[in-house]
Amino acid sequence: MLLLIIGITVAALHFGVPLVYFLIVRKYLSLPWDLRIKEDYDPHVTVIIPTYNESKYIIEKLENLAKQKYPKDKLKIIVVDSASTDGTQDLVKEWIIKNNYLDATLLIESERRGMIHALNYALENIDFNKTDVIVFTDADSFWGENTLKETVKYFHDPRVGAVTASITTTYNESIEVTYRDYYNIIRIGESKMHSTPIHNGALVAFRSKLLERIGRLPNYTGNNDSTPASLIAFMGYRAIQIPEALVREPVKTRGEFFRKIRRAQHLILHFLYTKKYALAKGFYKGRSRFDTIWRIEFYLNVVNPWLLLLGSILFFYALSSISIILLTIILLLTVIALGNRTLRTWVTYQIILSYAQLRNLKTKELVWRKA
Ligand code: GDD
Ligand code: MN
Repeated sequence: MLLLIIGITVAALHFGVPLVYFLIVRKYLSLPWDLRIKEDYDPHVTVIIPTYNESKYIIEKLENLAKQKYPKDKLKIIVVDSASTDGTQDLVKEWIIKNNYLDATLLIESERRGMIHALNYALENIDFNKTDVIVFTDADSFWGENTLKETVKYFHDPRVGAVTASITTTYNESIEVTYRDYYNIIRIGESKMHSTPIHNGALVAFRSKLLERIGRLPNYTGNNDSTPASLIAFMGYRAIQIPEALVREPVKTRGEFFRKIRRAQHLILHFLYTKKYALAKGFYKGRSRFDTIWRIEFYLNVVNPWLLLLGSILFFYALSSISIILLTIILLLTVIALGNRTLRTWVTYQIILSYAQLRNLKTKELVWRKA
C-alpha cells in the first residue's frame, strides 16, 4: 500500500509540476514586452547557413532568404559547407553568381568536423564591427517574408542579446498558431518574464558583440542555439522567443525519431554544461528571473522525465501485488488514455529525454548523420 501511495505521489509530481508551471507562465503571455522595440529598425545583419549535403533544400533556402523584406544593403548571407559530397557547393556557387545583387558568400571547410566547428569557422571570417546581428539558420527551415524584420526589431533595445523564432508546422502564418502550441506558450511566456533557456536553430539571432564576448560558439553541447543564448541570458541580457517570427521545418518521417533523440541529447548536454553558470555566484550582479527559469527548465528536462518511469514502476508493481485483476483493468485504462494525443506526445517525449541522458554516456552526437 505504501509503495502504491509513493508511486502515485511520484507520478502526480511528474504531471503536476509542469502543469502548474504552464499555468503560471501562460499568464505572462498577454503582458506587453517591457522592451523598446522599433518597427523599422534595420541594423546590419549576417545570416549564416551551415550545410552538409543539403542539395535537396539549399536553393529553396537561398530563394527564401532572398525574398526577405529587408534592405539588401544591410543583409549579408554566408553559406558554410563542410565537404558535402552531393553537389551542394556547386549549387550554391551557381546561385550566388545568378543573384549577384545580393551579398552572398560560400565558405568551404575541406573536412567535416560538425556544425559548430563550421559555424565558428564562418565567425572567424566576419568583421564583428561591421555586423550588428548574426543569425544562424538551418538549410531545411523556411521563414515567412517578414521574419527577419520581425526578429531584428527587438535588437533596438540594448538589453536584448538573443532572439529566436517560433516553429510552426502550418503554412499560413499567424501568431494565433504560435499561441496554441504548449512549447511555444512556455517559451514565449518565459521570454516575457525574462528569457528562455531553449532556442530554435531554425532561426536564432545574436547581438554580434555578445557572441564575440562569450567566445563564439561553445563546442561541448552540439547546439548553436540554446547554449549561446543562455550564456548571454546569464550575463543579464534578454534571450527571447518571439511570436511574430515564424519558421517552418519540413515534416520528416524517416529518421525523425532519431533526430528527436539527438536534439534531446544536445538539450541535456546544454543543461549540464550551463549548470555552472546557474550556480555561479557573481557571474552577474544579483539573481535574475532567468536563473529561476533555468532551474525549473533544468528540473523539467533532466529530472522530471525519470519520475514518470519511477512512478509507473512503483505504481504498477504495487498494484500487481494487490490484485492482478485491478492491475489488468488499470493497464487497459492506461492504454485507452494513451489514445489521447497530448498525453501520448508528452509521454513519448519524456521517454526520449530519459533515453537521451543514457545515450549521452555512450556518444554525444556532436557530428551526426543526416536524418
Ligand atoms: N557546415 C556543416 N558541417 N553543416 C552541418 C554539419 C557539418 O558538419 N552537420 C550538420 N550541418 C548543417 C545541416 O546541413 C543543417 O543545415 C544544419 O546544420 C542542422 O543540421 P540538421 O542535420 O538539419 O539537424 P537538425 O535539424 O536536427 O539540427 C537541429 O538541432 C541542433 C541541436 O541539436 C538544428 O536546429 C541545429 O541548429 C541545432 O543546434
Ligand atoms: Mn534540420
